[in-house]
Amino acid sequence: MFRKSSSSSGYRDPEILVGLDLGTSKISVVVAEREGPSGEAQIIGIGQAPSNGIRKGLIVNIDQTVKSLRHAIDDAENMVGLNLTEATVAFSGGDVQSLKTKGMIALGRAPRTVMQFDIERVIESAQANISVPSGKMILHTIPVEYSLDGNSGIDDPLGMNATRLDIELESVIVPVAMVQNVRNCVEKAGLEVSGLVIKPLASALGALTHDESLAGTAVVDIGGGTCGVAVFVEGRPKHLAVISVGGDHVTNDVATLLKIPINRAEEIKKEVNLFWDPQNGGPEDFNFEHMGRNYSYSMSELTDIVQCRIEELFSMLIKAEIAASGASMLPGGLVITGGGSKSAGLDHYLARVMNMPVRVSLPLDSGRMPPARNGSEYTCAAGIIRYVLEQERNPYRFIGNSFDANPIMSSSAEQGWEKGAGSPKSGHVSFWQSIMNLFKELF
Ligand SMILES: Nc1ncnc2c1ncn2[C@@H]1O[C@H](COP(=O)(O)OP(=O)(O)O)[C@@H](O)[C@H]1O
Ligand SMILES: [Mg+2]
Repeated sequence: MFRKSSSSSGYRDPEILVGLDLGTSKISVVVAEREGPSGEAQIIGIGQAPSNGIRKGLIVNIDQTVKSLRHAIDDAENMVGLNLTEATVAFSGGDVQSLKTKGMIALGRAPRTVMQFDIERVIESAQANISVPSGKMILHTIPVEYSLDGNSGIDDPLGMNATRLDIELESVIVPVAMVQNVRNCVEKAGLEVSGLVIKPLASALGALTHDESLAGTAVVDIGGGTCGVAVFVEGRPKHLAVISVGGDHVTNDVATLLKIPINRAEEIKKEVNLFWDPQNGGPEDFNFEHMGRNYSYSMSELTDIVQCRIEELFSMLIKAEIAASGASMLPGGLVITGGGSKSAGLDHYLARVMNMPVRVSLPLDSGRMPPARNGSEYTCAAGIIRYVLEQERNPYRFIGNSFDANPIMSSSAEQGWEKGAGSPKSGHVSFWQSIMNLFKELF
């Protein structure tokens, strides 16, 4: 977050928030502006560039990634007329683990008020049960449920009275090297990394209505090389996962079947109704042109192969992630977003496969985003801004990334991190730092 310009007139300069979505297909840079810390944030521009150097969410070529990043940042800077200096970065990759642990502390024999440091203690007691494998680090620590004296569903225990506080914690664990590569590339492209967020969390915040997140809903962001999965219950993320299959697998299937190059298959994928139900009648064949020649192909053969791929993805992999969340019911159904959710008829098809209501989601902020940059493929980018604001409003909701001096990293991860990544941005006060400051103030 930085100020637009310096002013001596007494007028408050707007604050600028920047989110960077590191996707397999494209990189987006979203810029939002707000009048002071309590003001509403308004998205004022979204830059984007095709993403080269990233495969299945993972950086595989530093130079290409840095170039793509620079193009996306330039695009955003031109759109808003500002020089951007830092961003909160959303990234993904196959090796993301979501781990649940429980913790408990006694408050005393007689009930007493829960204080801020009690919350820290109970979080620490849950963290004591996590063993972070060597080379991995905790990216997010998310309290998913508090209980007071055995009563679950407590939204915020601070200030309430009890003798015992329990917590269920969700920790997102990622390889240290993955985070280092992301950070190095973004820095080489000229931006400081002010925060990190796993893509499915940003997508869910960008797509889910308040009611859906309370009711219990699964969100799947269908990207190019990955699908992000988030299951929200009672307003909190119960489970976050990344699956290394995305819309590009469908494109590859079409290219292989029709024996055409990927870029032509990508066009056909967007033109043809791949989720057509043959029982509803319709054309037996479809025609397409390639290199000046006309071809005809069986519609059912094409739709079968694509539908098999999507059925396998959802009924096996995504169902397994939903089951891993432990949510017994999802009255809010399934929300799909991301570029891959734009296939015509996919929602009806998935409603049959998953046996639950399905909604295709644009970003919640789409009405206030630039036209042509407000479709489902920008939900994650818009969600990054919501993540930053949410984290600021409620520091207990998504406790900062480990690189903000969070003491819960394994020692090996810590060493690996400190070697390559440099120091956290000055001026950023982590949750732990604020706890320490509070202690200093109290005693
Ligand atoms: N109109 C469309 N119909 C079907 N698929 C689409 C459409 N537009 C984009 N896609 C697919 O969406 C995927 C890219 O989604 P996006 O969210 O931009 O990816 P990422 O976040 O991985 O960069 C690609 O597989 C692309 O083929
Ligand atoms: Mg995306």
